[in-house]
Amino acid sequence: MSRALATDTVTAAHAGLSKLDGARLPRHVAVIMDGNGRWAKQRNLPRVMGHREGVEALKRTLRLCSDLGIGALTAYAFSTENWSRPGEEVSFLMTLFERVLARELHALEQEQVRIRFLGDLEPLPPGLQRLIADATERTAANSGIHFNVCTNYGGRAELVRAARRLAQRCAAGELDPAAIDEQAFTAELHTAGERDPDLLIRTSGELRISNFLLWQLAYAEIHITDVLWPDFDEAALLGALLDYQGRQRRFGGVDPC
Ligand code: IPE
Ligand code: IPE
Ligand code: MG
Repeated sequence: MSRALATDTVTAAHAGLSKLDGARLPRHVAVIMDGNGRWAKQRNLPRVMGHREGVEALKRTLRLCSDLGIGALTAYAFSTENWSRPGEEVSFLMTLFERVLARELHALEQEQVRIRFLGDLEPLPPGLQRLIADATERTAANSGIHFNVCTNYGGRAELVRAARRLAQRCAAGELDPAAIDEQAFTAELHTAGERDPDLLIRTSGELRISNFLLWQLAYAEIHITDVLWPDFDEAALLGALLDYQGRQRRFGGVDPC
């Protein structure tokens, strides 16, 4: 069944989104979910309350993207650098990931979401690793949106890993170094099989990419909003998508006349 924007159900449920051109939506949206701590601070709450509320924003965004017929949503949940945060915050986040995944897995299955976790998963708590393996396997054949959660993910680490894997194949005599091209490199990334993001959204106003998808964002359109991640809602997503639809993508070429 098609889940395209033009369906009556979507336009009725999300009236604002009907302003979008359904034929020119990004096929893959990536998001740096930033500003949870500041959201909590503004309310005199502990930082971790911002993370808890951030989960609601992610669920909202996933549902909206899925309803719009967007093919993939890739969300930055925990970076390789985030281990440097206070131990209590890191533990809270790991427990939160476990709880949310256990609680939401059934709904993800029902909604045909295919979930994958991108990053080096080995340092994650064993219970979380088991849940991730289970969720990945149980949703692998789903036909809906690809939902990629970047967990212990770093763009540099991903590139080093890809180079190492290619080198190992060369050393084993399976691969000729002269045959290493962009396609071969792409196939060794965590995102293998996924098209590059068309749109990157970063919340909380920071003008940087913080080690996210360094290879894959080569030609992504970038939308930066001051909205803090827990406040990211339908209007904020609409703003990002309208901004995207106003862009002219050239990929190094020239505008068609
Ligand atoms: C993003 O929010 C969530 C993670 C990086 C895990 P932050 O926790 O970075 O929030 P700020 O940037 O301190 O406001
Ligand atoms: C980026 O946010 C990482 C995630 C959203 C998971 P950070 O808060 O870690 O990034 P910086 O420190 O502002 O660059
Ligand atoms: Mg931050």
